[in-house]
Amino acid sequence: MFEKFSFKTGKTDEPSLASHKVNKIPVHVAIIMDGNGRWAKRRGLPRIAGHREAMKTIKRVTKEADRLGIKVLTLYAFSTENWKRPKPEVDFLMKLPQQFLNSYLNELIEQNVQVRTMGDLSRLPSHTLQAVEHAVARTQKNTGLILNFALNYGSHLEIVRAMKAIIQEVGDNRLDAEAVTEEVVARHLMSPALPDPDLLIRTGGEVRLSNFMLWQLAYTELYFSDEYWPDFNEQSLQKAVSIFASRQRRYGGLMEGSEEN
Ligand code: IPE
Ligand code: IPE
Ligand code: MG
Repeated sequence: MFEKFSFKTGKTDEPSLASHKVNKIPVHVAIIMDGNGRWAKRRGLPRIAGHREAMKTIKRVTKEADRLGIKVLTLYAFSTENWKRPKPEVDFLMKLPQQFLNSYLNELIEQNVQVRTMGDLSRLPSHTLQAVEHAVARTQKNTGLILNFALNYGSHLEIVRAMKAIIQEVGDNRLDAEAVTEEVVARHLMSPALPDPDLLIRTGGEVRLSNFMLWQLAYTELYFSDEYWPDFNEQSLQKAVSIFASRQRRYGGLMEGSEEN
């Protein structure tokens, strides 16, 4: 579906990005949307006010990502560890997909966006699950930007599930143990149809991955921003993409055009 590591899909003619080649637009951008609680606290508001504000950022960033020519946008919305938070906050977070989609699904459909999910949806409350499944179904035939929500997602869970599935297939003689390759593992993860992220953005100032896409991020360019997610805007995304464009990816090889290769 996607040619891995190719950057030939950009449609930007942005002045701010003009100095960079159009083929340096990342195909897949993944974002750890962090800092909602601190954003609210700084304003003397309850943490949930930050989560509410976060939905506006998602709208802005989705539009801007599409405009820049990004093809896949994966957003870490709820981790397998976030259940540890106080119940009222978890309950609020579980209402957000509905609220977001109620006010925005029509626009997403108009924008030709394909909504997808990644994570263990079985543990979500039924109202959350229904809203998300409805959005996925309604946008299934679209052909534009893939907006992939990581919901009750955790990389360790993902890898354990992949291992179990592979062991089962080997046990059933459907797969030879010798035939288990990197591609086979990748196919059993929760993002089998997506190319690995080219760029990971984490907002909110923390410099860690918090159990996010550990396999898929093996060669991803990492970008950490101190901005809280509700403050992240079009310019913030442009800056991240522009810094990405200036980086030299080597995948363990040598610099492009190097004399020594
Ligand atoms: C990110 O913001 C949203 C989720 C993890 C669901 P936080 O709620 O983690 O905000 P901080 O990090 O406490 O500021
Ligand atoms: C990561 O943020 C999860 C999401 C953004 C959904 P957290 O706020 O949960 O991460 P930690 O706890 O600071 O590592
Ligand atoms: Mg946080």
